This record gives sequence, structure tokens and C-alpha cells, in this order.
Amino acid sequence: MTTAGLEDVVATTSRICDLDGELGKLTYYGVDIHDLAQHSSFEETAYLLWHGKLPTQAQLAETESALHSSRALPGRLIDLMHLLPPSMSPMNVLRTVISALVAFDSDPSDTSAPANERRAIRLTAVLPTIVMAWNRIREGLAPVEPLDNGSHAANILYQLTGKLPDEYTAHALDIALILHADHELNASTFAARVTAGTKADMYASVVSALSALSGPLHGGANEQVIRMLHKMNDISKVEPYLEDALARKERIMGFGHRVYRTEDPRATHLRAMSKELGERTGDSRWYEMSQVTEAYIKEHKHLNANVDFYSASVYYMMGIPIDLDTPIFASSRIAGWTAHILEQYANNRLIRPRAEYVGQKVTEYTPIDERG
Ligand code: CMC
Repeated sequence: MTTAGLEDVVATTSRICDLDGELGKLTYYGVDIHDLAQHSSFEETAYLLWHGKLPTQAQLAETESALHSSRALPGRLIDLMHLLPPSMSPMNVLRTVISALVAFDSDPSDTSAPANERRAIRLTAVLPTIVMAWNRIREGLAPVEPLDNGSHAANILYQLTGKLPDEYTAHALDIALILHADHELNASTFAARVTAGTKADMYASVVSALSALSGPLHGGANEQVIRMLHKMNDISKVEPYLEDALARKERIMGFGHRVYRTEDPRATHLRAMSKELGERTGDSRWYEMSQVTEAYIKEHKHLNANVDFYSASVYYMMGIPIDLDTPIFASSRIAGWTAHILEQYANNRLIRPRAEYVGQKVTEYTPIDERG
């Protein structure tokens, strides 16, 4: 039996992430996402995803230090970015530069698990450096060197402006990164595992994941959400906008989910952060418009907000440019992708499903000059 979009098809086994769409429950190696959001850091969560257990103090310190020392980008990749047209989308630049990063791997022939674990750290550390360097280069500015200490979240915000972020904003971004770090067999993770399943290298697998993430039905939704809020622009315009959009059968970005039939547990935290950021920045408009949108879509379409909905206003109020929303998602999900790639390599079998053939069974070959 075929299932469009592989809906509900179980395509692999995994120990990394468990997702209960009916209960709205999400765990990484059994640790509840709410506990991680409340108590963990992105670095600790990444360690959990890579190693299957929470780190000791020493293991965490070692991972943080490895991440710090892997943040810098080879100068030739900065040169490569200078050659790209400033209009190129950050997601397209990201996959291009990650693809080129393979040339700077000290020993591409080493496909051992420790070498791939080192690559996972390097890719995680360097990914936001590429995003933030591109954001500066396209504006004709010199990239900001990454911090040689501090959290992944603080370093992302620092490279955006060259100024250290305040404690609250860095902490809020850290939580957002934890919430986005993994999500079972979503489209980009599946793409990564399909590529890894051919024994292609980790860079190629991450390029597949980035490509899948960029689409508006997946990670690209957060950018579309903030664009929609800008079109509405005022709380009084929210309902008329949505009425028109639904009448035109448009999809409202940031709503609906293939698996969740209830509140996305990640949205719970992002909603609260959006509210708090509105209060702190003195501009609650984005949160308020989001709230009205959420209530309207719930009433008229019975759909819940997903992770992309409130993350859009959260990132916007943090001063993150709109088209960097999806790259910020990638700056977190890279931990999950690389964990899944490591898991795929460790117990590999080529992923090669079948298609049900629904075309014509026999077609005679007609010579070209006889075709009408
Ligand atoms: N707005 C309006 N209608 C919707 C939406 C939406 N966002 N989502 C689903 N529907 C409707 C859809 O039109 C269909 O109605 P009908 O049966 O009358 O044609 C019904 O709900 C079922 O939709 P579906 O496309 O069969 O459901 P799916 O499981 O394939 O869709 C989805 C999942 C995420 C692609 C979809 O909900 C969607 O397009 N959402 C908007 C994009 C979005 O927010 N993506 C982010 C997903 S979560 C995080 C991530 O992956 O980044």
C-alpha cells in the first residue's frame, strides 16, 4: 500500500528522539523536552544527542571547548562568500559553503566513529559562523570573528552585531536552540539519513538536510510567518487577512503538523518567550498579532501552532534579520542531523524504498521522425 508523503510509515529505528503526537510529548534519549528547556543548555543537549546520555561536568567542559575551538571558518571560504552575489539567500549560501567545507577536512578518508564525532562538533560550531559571516559580507561589512568562549547562542548573537548580547536574550536563544535541536524523522533528518545511508560523507549528508530544511513546508516556515505578520502589520488587520487567505485556500505558515494532534510542546515555550520579549522590548505587537492569529486558526481550521510560529516573532524581537530565521533553525538542528548521521553510520543499511508504478505498462518505442 502506498502512503502519500510516507505518512505514518515507520522508515527506521532510532534511539535519539521520541515523539508522541497524541500526547504532545517530545523526548531526547528519554529526557523530556520541558526539562531540557528549563534546565539544560544547547551544548549539553547536543552532547545528549551525540552520546545518548547527559554529560558529566568534565565531558560538558570538553565538548564546549571543542565547539569553541571549531568556530572559525577557513579564510578561503570567506573568500568564496565574497564571490557570491549579495542577493543569494542565506540558506543557499549555507549549503554551498558547507559543501565546500569538505575540502578543509584534515583526513576525509577517515570514516571512523571518532572522526565523524569530531566532524559533528566542527559542523555544529562553524555553521552559525557561515550564516553570520554571510549576513555581514552581503552588506559590505567585514565578518565578526567568532567568540573563543561563551555559549553557542551568545556567539550567534555576537557575530550578528559584534556586541555581546544581554543575558536574557542569550538565554532565550539558548532555549530556542534546545527546542529545535532534534525532531525524530522530520524531512531534513530523513534526507540526511538517506544520504548517509549510501555511505556518503557527513558534509554531503548535511547538505541534503539543509536543502530539505529550506522549503516553506519545513524550516522555511518561520521566515514566512514573520513576513505574514508584517503584511498584517496591525492587530486590527489580522482577522481580515486570515479570512482572505483562508478563502483563497492558502496555507497559514506556522500551523499544522504531520505528527502532532495537540499542542506542539516546543510552541509552549516559544509562546511564553515571545510574550516576554514583547514586554522587554516594549513592542508587544508581534506577540499580540501572533496570539490573535493562533486563536483564529484554532477556531476556523482546528490547527495548532507549530515550532515555527512563535519562533518567528521571538527571532524578530531578538533583532535577527528575517531571512536568517531558517539558518538559525539549522544552527540548532545540525546537532540532531549529525546525531542521526552517526546513528545511521553505526548500523547502516542502504535506504532504498520502492515506488508503486502507476504509469502505462507497455509503450512501443517509436522512431523520432515518426512521432507526432
Ligand atoms: N494552513 C491552512 N490549512 C492547513 C494548514 C495550514 N498551515 N496545514 C494543514 N492544513 C489543512 C490542509 O489544507 C488540509 O485540508 P484539506 O483536507 O481540506 O485539504 C488538511 O489541513 C491536512 O493537511 P495536509 O497537508 O494533508 O497535512 P500534512 O500532514 O501533509 O501537513 C504540514 C503538514 C506541516 C506540511 C502542513 O500543516 C503545512 O503546510 N503547514 C504550514 C507550513 C508549516 O508551518 N510548516 C512547518 C511544519 S512544523 C516544523 C518544521 O518542520 O519546520
